[in-house]
Amino acid sequence: NKGKYEHYMQKEIHEQPESLTTTMRGRLIRGGSSNRKSVLLGGLKDHLKTIRRSRRIVFIGCGTSYNAALAARTILEELSGIPVTMEIASDLLDRQAPVYRDDTIIFVSQSGETADTLNALEYSLSNGALCVGITNTVGSAIARNTHCGVHINAGSEIGVASTKAYTSQIVVMAMVALAIGADTISTKPRREAIIESLLELPGKVKQVLKLDEEMKDLAKSLISEQSLLMFGRGYNYATALEGALKVKEVALMHSEGILAGEMKHGPLALVDEHLPIVVIATRDQCFSKQQSVIQQLKARKGRLIVMCSEGDGTAVCGSSCRVIEVPLVVDCLQPVVNIVPLQLLAYHLTVLRGYNVDQPRNLAKSVTTE
Ligand code: UD1
Ligand code: BG6
Repeated sequence: NKGKYEHYMQKEIHEQPESLTTTMRGRLIRGGSSNRKSVLLGGLKDHLKTIRRSRRIVFIGCGTSYNAALAARTILEELSGIPVTMEIASDLLDRQAPVYRDDTIIFVSQSGETADTLNALEYSLSNGALCVGITNTVGSAIARNTHCGVHINAGSEIGVASTKAYTSQIVVMAMVALAIGADTISTKPRREAIIESLLELPGKVKQVLKLDEEMKDLAKSLISEQSLLMFGRGYNYATALEGALKVKEVALMHSEGILAGEMKHGPLALVDEHLPIVVIATRDQCFSKQQSVIQQLKARKGRLIVMCSEGDGTAVCGSSCRVIEVPLVVDCLQPVVNIVPLQLLAYHLTVLRGYNVDQPRNLAKSVTTE
């Protein structure tokens, strides 16, 4: 049931304040002597010791689920102190890559039924690794066959382009990072800042959804473009990849997410006054580097659309580029806020270009064949 919305994708984008609340429900609880909030993930609690002892954590997924894992990689590395590597499910299988008994492998899948991810799970089980699932579907093959895991509880997602599952996956993985990481005096301020920000997140997402009309306007200005680049780095490299994936899969427009640190190693050759480029430059430790990327793109007359933190618009790009201002949250959760305007942009571009929003050409919600 689409309710007041015209498309499931639109409904699912606007539902995110509620789906994020459901994802966190019952999992941020008061406890310990300080009575501070901490994370309790019922599906992981008996396995945390084993996970903490693992030599490496590997994220495996496809499409949007891979991007969500990439968004959470840095915080998991920071809080766990364990190296985290990324694998596209099909590529792990193509390479028959080494997987060891002391690895923890986290399988991320909205449907829990994606063939490539399932095959990678079977392969990892036979190599003796601890296999953890993060899925939206209770009773799915991945939920059943992993040793343990976490349901993201985002509610059923019908639009082929994944939106609310992406933000809930990131939130779950941030909670997984908190659950694995040591709760010590030195980590306490950071952990508390993340938990505070998690609690505020549904409200911030509600706020960023108010950009709907602005994103429709932006979509109008891009309607007949051939291509759209998105530059991100750090926590928001994943935002660039996922924003571009949305535009590609539903608006049927070529779009590429690019790691800004690689700009000089090729992508800069594409820059001219015509090609639209989204640059994600919200406040975090990469901010000054992104400011310099903007300067370099401006020097080549790039047609920029800059996503920055509220109040930073003029400072970040003067008057010569289009600005998307978003509310600031803790750095590792900023991807949850930043993806929302790009989901809206992809949605409006699709409607304006007259394409099928919920059933994009040639794509399926769940890819159950190799
Ligand atoms: C569980 C209940 C929830 C209840 C809560 C109360 C289920 C599905 N969830 O939620 O209804 O409100 O307790 O305490 O009954 N698992 C996997 N692989 C996966 C995902 C999950 O093995 O990919 C396993 C988990 O290890 C766990 C079980 O499935 O044993 C349920 O996981 P989850 O729903 O995340 O657990 P809770 O949040 O504790
Ligand atoms: C398909 C969907 O390609 O599978 C994507 O169209 C999705 O939206 C991808 O991201 C992976 O699916 P899942 O269910 O494993 O997360």
